[in-house]
Amino acid sequence: MGPGLDPLVKELAVSVQKGRCLLAKSLSRGTPLDSFGYLAKEALSITDNQLIRLIGTDGLLCLPMVAHREPVGVVILGIDETQFSCLSEEISLLTMFINQAALSIYAENVRQTQASIVQAERLRASSEVARRVAHEVNNPLGIIKNYLKMLGIKLSENNAVQEEINIINEEIDRISGIISVLSDFFEPKVRQKEPVDINSLISDLIKITHEALLIESGIKAQLDLEPSLPPAMTDKNGLKQVLINLIKNAAEAMPGGGNLNIKTRRVFDGPKKDLRKDLHEDQAYVKITISDDGPGIPERIRSRLFEPFVSSKGKGHAGLGLSIAGSIIRDLNGTITCESEEAKGTTFKIELPVEKTQGR
Ligand SMILES: Nc1ncnc2c1ncn2[C@@H]1O[C@H](COP(=O)(O)OP(=O)(O)OP(=O)(O)O)[C@@H](O)[C@H]1O
Ligand SMILES: [Mg+2]
Repeated sequence: MGPGLDPLVKELAVSVQKGRCLLAKSLSRGTPLDSFGYLAKEALSITDNQLIRLIGTDGLLCLPMVAHREPVGVVILGIDETQFSCLSEEISLLTMFINQAALSIYAENVRQTQASIVQAERLRASSEVARRVAHEVNNPLGIIKNYLKMLGIKLSENNAVQEEINIINEEIDRISGIISVLSDFFEPKVRQKEPVDINSLISDLIKITHEALLIESGIKAQLDLEPSLPPAMTDKNGLKQVLINLIKNAAEAMPGGGNLNIKTRRVFDGPKKDLRKDLHEDQAYVKITISDDGPGIPERIRSRLFEPFVSSKGKGHAGLGLSIAGSIIRDLNGTITCESEEAKGTTFKIELPVEKTQGR
């Protein structure tokens, strides 16, 4: 993309499923195509004309990126017709170069997919252990509570030890609370889903968290919400809990102030759909991006972020926020991913299916 390119191009989302535009045709056939019709005569679609207008050239050349016979993307070159004749002789060279790039993207996709599979396996394994521990620990806790009650009865009501007994009782309740979060967390829930207007949910949440979390730390929140966003099929309270956890983490990461950006967009392909066979190819998603320019997530915990009890904060933080967020989003058939760079900031991306009738 050239420096003078319309910023809209970066935001542009093109559906490749319907296959009417040059980009999609080039991807599905695995051959270069141009809008001038030199390589093959093709009728231009509205998307093609929009792209040409946005790029600001006479036309475009689409070069598919293929690796191991799988399409991984398309390179779109904005060119003028006079340039095309020179370029057309170099197409095989360009294709070679682009296929090298495609191989690198393919390798990175495989690496990410494998990392996600390993992560999912680890979650499954720790979930099994946690469920058993939760079950086993609850029994002795119940017995201790009963004995404490008996002890309390045996002692006179105004015995000074009653206060210690109360403290022990409270602490046992705290352990029970943590354990119930654990068993709850790993139990997949059927959540009541309804069409939810994500933009107003986010605006409301920012109002709520503004006083309590953001102002206090000097954090500036900026919203970039797509006006025509379709409603997402989701559990409103569950999603609220997820977003509050993410906003709270951002605020805690930037005690001296910073920027928090929340963006919504409608997209057509969920990430990692190869991992989630239940995600339908032809479905639209609402994508929520929450970014901060804080210190970033420490490298050592990045790969275990959505596991329970992973925290860098110490006292008062159990390290449960993101694991709960991850499990809620899983229950909602969505995906949540994180990108973070030390000293640069952190971005969480959530994708949720939209209400079926609003898909396209
Ligand atoms: N926006 C962020 N910026 C920097 N680090 C983050 C951010 N979000 C999460 N983290 C890191 O990820 C860790 C895990 O987050 P998570 O919300 O699961 O737990 P926690 O905030 O430590 O504890 P809890 O949410 O239970 O209070 C945090 O301890 C922090 O190190
Ligand atoms: Mg947290």
